[in-house]
Amino acid sequence: MKAAMVHRQTIVPAARLRGIIEVPGDKSISHRAVLLNALAAGTAEISHFLAGADCLSTIACMQALGVSITQHGEHVRVVGHGLRGLHEAGDILDCGNSGTTLRLLAGILTGQIGRFSVLTGDGSLRSRPQRRIVEPLRALGAQIDGRDNGDRAPLAIRGAQLNEAAYTLPIASAQVKSALLLAALSSGVAITLDGRTDGRDHTERMLIAMGVPLTNDGGTIRLEPPGADLQPLSLRVPGDPSSATFWWVAAAIHPDAELTTTGVGLNPSRSGALDTLRMMGADLEIRNQRLEGSEPVADVTVRSSQLRGVVIEGAIIPRLIDELPVLAVAAACAAGDTLIRDAQELRAKETDRITTVTDGLQALGVEVEPTADGMGISGGRRMHGVPLSSHGDHRLAMAWAIAGLVAEGYTSIDDAAAVDVSYPGFWETITRITADN
Ligand code: S3P
Repeated sequence: MKAAMVHRQTIVPAARLRGIIEVPGDKSISHRAVLLNALAAGTAEISHFLAGADCLSTIACMQALGVSITQHGEHVRVVGHGLRGLHEAGDILDCGNSGTTLRLLAGILTGQIGRFSVLTGDGSLRSRPQRRIVEPLRALGAQIDGRDNGDRAPLAIRGAQLNEAAYTLPIASAQVKSALLLAALSSGVAITLDGRTDGRDHTERMLIAMGVPLTNDGGTIRLEPPGADLQPLSLRVPGDPSSATFWWVAAAIHPDAELTTTGVGLNPSRSGALDTLRMMGADLEIRNQRLEGSEPVADVTVRSSQLRGVVIEGAIIPRLIDELPVLAVAAACAAGDTLIRDAQELRAKETDRITTVTDGLQALGVEVEPTADGMGISGGRRMHGVPLSSHGDHRLAMAWAIAGLVAEGYTSIDDAAAVDVSYPGFWETITRITADN
């Protein structure tokens, strides 16, 4: 696995950027489409599934739990046998690089009475904090343990009958919120969540569409045990706004650019990057707004823009948390200062993205200072291409590629295959939109 991840890409400044891009399926929705349909009773057909390494880890884990799943490229068929239809896996479950797989699956498995499971992942995932799910799951009655008293994977879970509970979420994490909802669902008990319930809401939308009694009353989420089996939910996965943001930023910072991304999910809990780019003065146009299943989608065109620095803080942070590395590149090209605050969650991602992003930008010649919960960026200086590393972090590899399109000279990126985690085909697309056209 690791050997395949080591390869280097070199980016040269592009003369112009043109193209229409169908970005791959949304990573969060692809995970949930497999996990939730595996708990339903019947067959679901999923199209435009993200066949990236993270979502393939989810498929492999669910197959190991006895669910029949066939995947051909972007098409996936899941045959679920209901909430009690999972088997005990014969071996440890490898979640690879995927925090969503590990945390959502941990929730499901805590409610599978009597079954024993061990969840692990790659070096990055094993270093990420798990107390955020382990503590509240234990409060529900889960039998779960792991390294560092349960804060680090591998996590060992003995499925148990959980108790009905109410929990106040201290951080806006959709993974924590979803782990708790799925634990309650799996164990057949009610749960009430309040506090920071404002993370992405794909789990809630999908559960409602599958017939689960779930309400959100001004931020208080209540899930009741469904009286019947979950209905399978066939869907087309919308394009991932986190992937589209790379092209939006590329077009906005390049002097001769027009890029259109088609069929991008614009769920309000995910559209913070678009709102921020608009605030920065990006020339962007949204067309063809429609609903695909329970998610809003649209086509977005961005053209060369004169960006200005902004303050990114508070409630918008969870709505753009994964886009901050490339928004930091946009800020480096904007006139004036940008301040990113309230984003300490960046330190718990695939890498500590406050450190890795500011180190990389400094190497590119940007005036940037890390802070405890974000960074300050003085924009407007021309970046100079240098050798950079993704540190195995898919979103860093892509952020550096976008910087390389406007930096002077060559920008090379080590460990460039990391993009496969969320965006297989990223390097081919960059070649296509920079080719003479
Ligand atoms: C995700 C939630 C977010 C996000 C991650 C995917 C999800 O993480 O950063 O890429 O699919 O639920 P947190 O829940 O840790 O905020």
